Amino acid sequence: MLVVGPNGAGKTNLLESLHVGTQGFSPRTRNDASLIRFGREGARIALHGDHAGSPVELNVVLQVGAAKRASLNGARLQAAEQLRAEVATLVFTPDRLVVVKGGPAARRAYFDRALSRGTPTQAALPAEYAAALAQRNASLRGISLGYSTREALRPWTERVADLGAQLVAARRDVIAALEPLFAARAGELGLSDAALRYEAHPPSVESLEARLDRDLDRGATGLGPHLDDVEILAGERDLRTFGSQGEQRLAVLALLLAEAELVRERRGVPPLLLLDDVLSELDPERRRILAERLPAYGQALITTTSAAALPVEPNQLVEVEAGEAGTVLR
Ligand SMILES: Nc1ncnc2c1ncn2[C@@H]1O[C@H](COP(=O)(O)OP(=O)(O)O)[C@@H](O)[C@H]1O
Ligand SMILES: [Mg+2]
Repeated sequence: MLVVGPNGAGKTNLLESLHVGTQGFSPRTRNDASLIRFGREGARIALHGDHAGSPVELNVVLQVGAAKRASLNGARLQAAEQLRAEVATLVFTPDRLVVVKGGPAARRAYFDRALSRGTPTQAALPAEYAAALAQRNASLRGISLGYSTREALRPWTERVADLGAQLVAARRDVIAALEPLFAARAGELGLSDAALRYEAHPPSVESLEARLDRDLDRGATGLGPHLDDVEILAGERDLRTFGSQGEQRLAVLALLLAEAELVRERRGVPPLLLLDDVLSELDPERRRILAERLPAYGQALITTTSAAALPVEPNQLVEVEAGEAGTVLR
C-alpha cells in the first residue's frame, strides 16, 4: 500500500497509529499522551485484518492520565504491549539510522528486539537480564555504602552469570540466523560483502568475582552482554564509522528485510512492514529492487510525497491531506 501526501499531511501519523494499533506502543516515543490529538482527551485505534487466515480485530484506547488499554478479538489484554506476541510489525523510519550510526546501546536494543520478535519463547530474556544486572549493581553500591554484604551479592552474581550466558547464546542464535539473509538483501541493494559480527562477553561467576574490587569501586558490573556490540560490516569496513549515509540506510533496510524473513520463518506469518519515507532516500534502481522484492513479504505500507517514486503500481493507493479535522484519507 502506498500512502501519498504532501509534507505535514499526516502520513507518519498514520504509520505510527498502525504501529500503536498492532504493537501497543509507538516506535517514536514512550510518552503515550503525545500520541493523542492536541486538546483531546483520548484516542482510539481499531484495526480489522486477517492473521494467518483468520479474522483478527485489534483495539487500542489511549486516554490522558490513564493507562492505555488494548484488546484482541474482543478480549482485553493485561498490557497493550502484549499485542507484540500476537502480531509482528517492523518499521523503517529515517531515525532508524541510529542502529548503524549510533553507539553500541542502540544496536544492542535493536538486536534484542529482533531476538524477542524472532524467538518468542525468549522474548523476556533481555529484560530479565537487565533486571538482574540492576539488582547486582544496587547490591554493589550497598556494599560500598556498608549496608550490604558480599554474601548478599552472591545470588545476584550467579543470576547475572546465568542470564548473561543465556542472553549471549540467544543473541548469537538470532544474529547467526539474520546474517545470511542480511548479506543477501544488502547484496541485492548494492552493498556487497555485508556481514554482522557479534562481539560477546559472556559472564561467568568466576570472571565476575575476579573483577569484584573494580566493580565495587565503580558501583557497576563491568563485564557482560550489556556492554556488547554488533559490528555491521561491508567487507572489512565498519559501516558505523566508514559507511556513507546512503550505505547506512541500505544496511538498515537490509536488516529490516532480513528480519521480516526470519519472523515469517519462525512465526509462520509474515510481519506487517511500515516503511516511512524510504523511497526518497534511494536511487531509482534501488527503488525498483525494493518494489519488486516487497510483494514477497506480505503486507507493506510505504509513505511518500510523490506516487511516482514507486516504480511499480501499488495494490492500494491512499492519498492523505491535512484537513480541518485532522488527516483526511481518500
Ligand atoms: N498530538 C498531535 N496532535 C495534533 N497534531 C499533531 C500531533 N502530533 C503531531 N501533530 C502534527 O501532525 C502533522 C502531520 O505530521 P506527519 O504525520 O509527520 O506528516 P507527514 O509524515 O505527512 O509529513 C504535523 O504538522 C504535526 O505537527
Ligand atoms: Mg512523515
